[in-house]
Amino acid sequence: MAPIDTIITKLKQHIGKEVRIKGWLYNKRSKGKIHFLEIRDGTGIVQGVMSTGDVDEETFTLADKITRESSIIVTGTVHQDDRAPGGVELHLTGLELVAMSEEYPLGKKEHGPDFLLNNRHLWLRSKRQHAVIRVRHAVIKAIRDFFDDRDYTLVDTPIFTPAACEGTSTLFEVSYFGEKAYLTQSGQLYGEAAAMAHGKIYCFGPTFRAEKSKTRRHLTEFWMVEPEIAYATLDDVMDVAEEFVEYIAGFVVKTRRAELETLGRDISKLEAVKRPFPRMTYQEACEKIKSLGVEMKDGDDFGAPQETALGDSSDKPIMIHHWPSAIKAFYMKRDADNPSLALGVDMIAPEGYGEIIGGAQREEDLNLMLQRIKEHDLPMEAFQWYLDLRRFGTVPHGGFGLGVERTVAWLCGIEHLRETIPFPRMLHRIYP
Ligand code: 4AD
Ligand code: MG
Repeated sequence: MAPIDTIITKLKQHIGKEVRIKGWLYNKRSKGKIHFLEIRDGTGIVQGVMSTGDVDEETFTLADKITRESSIIVTGTVHQDDRAPGGVELHLTGLELVAMSEEYPLGKKEHGPDFLLNNRHLWLRSKRQHAVIRVRHAVIKAIRDFFDDRDYTLVDTPIFTPAACEGTSTLFEVSYFGEKAYLTQSGQLYGEAAAMAHGKIYCFGPTFRAEKSKTRRHLTEFWMVEPEIAYATLDDVMDVAEEFVEYIAGFVVKTRRAELETLGRDISKLEAVKRPFPRMTYQEACEKIKSLGVEMKDGDDFGAPQETALGDSSDKPIMIHHWPSAIKAFYMKRDADNPSLALGVDMIAPEGYGEIIGGAQREEDLNLMLQRIKEHDLPMEAFQWYLDLRRFGTVPHGGFGLGVERTVAWLCGIEHLRETIPFPRMLHRIYP
């Protein structure tokens, strides 16, 4: 009987049968008359055992010579083995070489981050990076499912834009047929237009910020999902954000447990991410930060030390609202009782992973919006279409943006954002 073509994650369904797997040699060790080949096929890794008695001499010699990362097609019978990862082992009956790999540069010794990033195209094959990218996929699926199941319409927003959304200091300028344009920092302003057409929308795509400082929490190209909701208040925005993050964490724990284990993540920490999340005002957060012994000047934005202290103090994400308007974006609505405060909210991840969400209720009044655009010295012509949203059927509304890479870093328990996106873009890095 011909062997069954299958993939490593499905081997358990074929115990006792002969199967064929197309993949690569991940690792190899030999002991006398036995070769142990670790085979990967993209879905998982399985150990293949080859004994002299089970294959012809030519095949056994080939296994002897074969190098790491060579592409191979193997056949073998599936044996249950509860000690093996995945619970199975392959007793190899055949080995076909597709291409012998040159000497593989990774994994012989400990490598520094620069070497690994220069070899990102190969580094992606390692167990740990494989697990991170699979968690990322689950985060993205959870994001889409959450909004799709709750009557939001997906509206894609442009990448070339004529104006800033999140401050002029991080704009990437491009020449657009002789005119100045910028890579988008956020789809929000267009999301607001779409929310006036569809009620509840989300946009989801890459966003760009010329972050000139080298930190572990900033990429120059990152993915953001941004829901925008007509008739929503700040409280509504916080309710959605909280349910959303609980959903994502729950989905990842449910569907990517093996990957989280590979990463050594403490899964109980993610299981604790259940509503309600603590909510506090900016002022209360300042008091809290000071009480934790971290320096904090009232009125200042939080930096990494303040976010880390706050996040460390809680086993759930924390939502901080009512910020000094001076440090927040032009589009945020002011508090009716205290116009020096903006109706913005930041969600800080637990365990010191920093801000994962920024959002707000938006200013819906035409004259106040005109005033804000002037105060922020933004080009009035470029915002005429945006002002139209306040001229024609304006309503209270709000939304938020969640950064995919920050979320993946937190869920995976990874220090640096560079491992959370397939090909990271950072200050001084645009290769490969
Ligand atoms: O707080 P931010 O700047 O908010 C906005 O862009 C709003 N327009 C969103 C909205 O209300 N629709 O960015 C939102 C999130 C941050 O909380 C963070 O998770 C992520 O985007 N983020 C970054 N992630 C990686 N690298 C960077 N340089 C990031 N800047 C922001
Ligand atoms: Mg922010």
